[in-house]
Amino acid sequence: MCGIVGYIGKRKAYPILIKGLHRLEYRGYDSAGVALINEQGQLNIYKAKGKVSQLEAFAADKDTGGTIGIAHTRWATHGEPNTVNAHPHYSESERLAIIHNGIIENYAVLKAGLMQEGYTFRSETDTEVLVQLIEYTQLNKHVDLKTAVQLALQQVVGAYAIAILDKDHPNTLIAARKGSPLVVGIGENEYFVASDATPIVEYTDQVIYIEDEEVVVLKPSAVSHQPSDIEITTINNVVKTPEIKRLELSLSQLEKGGYPHFMLKEIFEQPRTLADSMRGRVNVRQDNIALSGFIDNKERFLNASRIIITACGTSWHAGLIAMYAIEEFAQIPVEVEYSSEFRYRKPVIHKDDVVIAISQSGETADTLAAIQLAKSKGAFIFSICNVVGASIPRLSDSGCYTHVGPEIGVASTKAFTAQVVALTMLALCIGREKKTISEDKYLTIVRELGQIPDKIERVLNSNKRIGDFAKTFTYAQNFIYLGRGYNYPVAMEGALKLKEISYIHAEGYPAAEMKHGPIALISQEMPVVVVAPHCGTYEKVVSNIQEIKARQGKVIAIVTEGDQLVSRIADYTIEIPATEECLTPLLTVIPLQLLAYHIAVVKGCDVDQPRNLAKSVTVE
Ligand code: AGP
Repeated sequence: MCGIVGYIGKRKAYPILIKGLHRLEYRGYDSAGVALINEQGQLNIYKAKGKVSQLEAFAADKDTGGTIGIAHTRWATHGEPNTVNAHPHYSESERLAIIHNGIIENYAVLKAGLMQEGYTFRSETDTEVLVQLIEYTQLNKHVDLKTAVQLALQQVVGAYAIAILDKDHPNTLIAARKGSPLVVGIGENEYFVASDATPIVEYTDQVIYIEDEEVVVLKPSAVSHQPSDIEITTINNVVKTPEIKRLELSLSQLEKGGYPHFMLKEIFEQPRTLADSMRGRVNVRQDNIALSGFIDNKERFLNASRIIITACGTSWHAGLIAMYAIEEFAQIPVEVEYSSEFRYRKPVIHKDDVVIAISQSGETADTLAAIQLAKSKGAFIFSICNVVGASIPRLSDSGCYTHVGPEIGVASTKAFTAQVVALTMLALCIGREKKTISEDKYLTIVRELGQIPDKIERVLNSNKRIGDFAKTFTYAQNFIYLGRGYNYPVAMEGALKLKEISYIHAEGYPAAEMKHGPIALISQEMPVVVVAPHCGTYEKVVSNIQEIKARQGKVIAIVTEGDQLVSRIADYTIEIPATEECLTPLLTVIPLQLLAYHIAVVKGCDVDQPRNLAKSVTVE
């Protein structure tokens, strides 16, 4: 987590860094800080607890001059969120300043060694150890800063994306990465470094994705961009050739476009984002799905005796839905694993297993580690990711990008529906190839997929009504969400959305499990959201609703248009258009996203940046 941004060039660095921090704030917002070397060669550091706006207020009357600087927005790991622990951190002599995203696992050992050498520490962070170690290495080995960085990083266990300023070299910015993302932007006589491309996009579309254990030295020449301006080496000093890529990201994708929150904008974008995800893949006229990541690696899927899906949070819920689809259409056994458990429980992985990693950000540390483990055992890795060029797709053997554009709200919405679409397409491709799905069924679902964007548009028409009745539920301390089959993961996803943005405790259960415990919680105080489209085990779910009503629970039901039965007994119903059962999650999840959103807004919560969370969990 944490966001880092750096600038070196001809312009004033401070406004570029502050704007960059706002874009990266989704990665953490416990504190923010900036370091600048001004025209007089002074290294100034300003820090504030809380959001970037607090840093701006603090620095308003300070000297923010300088054309080189680094800045950081923090999601606290080591040390509470306060000003002292905020980045950037000085070295002992206050000559160097560092920002860091990641975790230095052996920081305690390194710190003890440095303390014995007389080094003192101001903060409780692991990051301060790193900058002290770099300075100590430079002084003791009599080497330049790049070499000191390389040597220090050789001693480090853990993950890092760092950027360093040296007061004595105001024309040089050094950065490095291992396990945490780092991208370099190349402008006209100016360079940017950042955790992702969002702070860079308005200045340049030329970028370099820095690889693990690489150190980049940026030194703009006076005239125009020269190859010698960028030097990339490994921490063992192997010289690398920079590979410049074109950025596919536009500024308008990063703005709210008239919506009060990114989350609402992203919910409303779903008809378009799903059309984008399917474009060039689902061909309704030819009744066909073409998924290049599958076509190029067909044999691996056809010979797979098992598929393991690994992911976290919302992506894990998408994986659970995929389990239903892959087992139904492709008849391959599927296991769905939390990445954080999978990587540590010595799982049995065979060479003929296919491992599907699902991640919006493509940087989730546990999912990355899970696929590293699976890859080391010879499994074939297929990833479903949104962020192009992120670590997970780069480590995978093949995959499918969801192409929904940047998702900025911390609560995942449009990424989820696109993951479900991508996984459904994959299940259908495998099934058709294996002939485990009838041609009739395949064609019906392909045609129905083409209808999904319009059907989501119809569900979005319920926004106002959901907003109205959401007000009724702000009193609630707890919610239960129930669903069955394909909609059981939707119930869990609805509960997660509510928890993370409204801070109301919520649990999602398979509806039939209610009798085995959760029913004890039902009372007139307890709202129960039941996902009950007219398919699969509909009648059974109706019985569950009766059981809740018999105990005075308040029922909010998601039903298929024209439903008479549930509408008569539920307190509130939201309708979705009829569709194929495997596609119902794409429609039923929309009212749950809106319900969580409206409850959070009425409660006055920070919808886009809920407390304690970060968009991309790049620490274990
Ligand atoms: C979703 O609303 C969450 N913020 C979170 O659960 C998220 O889905 C999870 O951290 C996984 O992220 P990823 O998809 O980027 O790997």
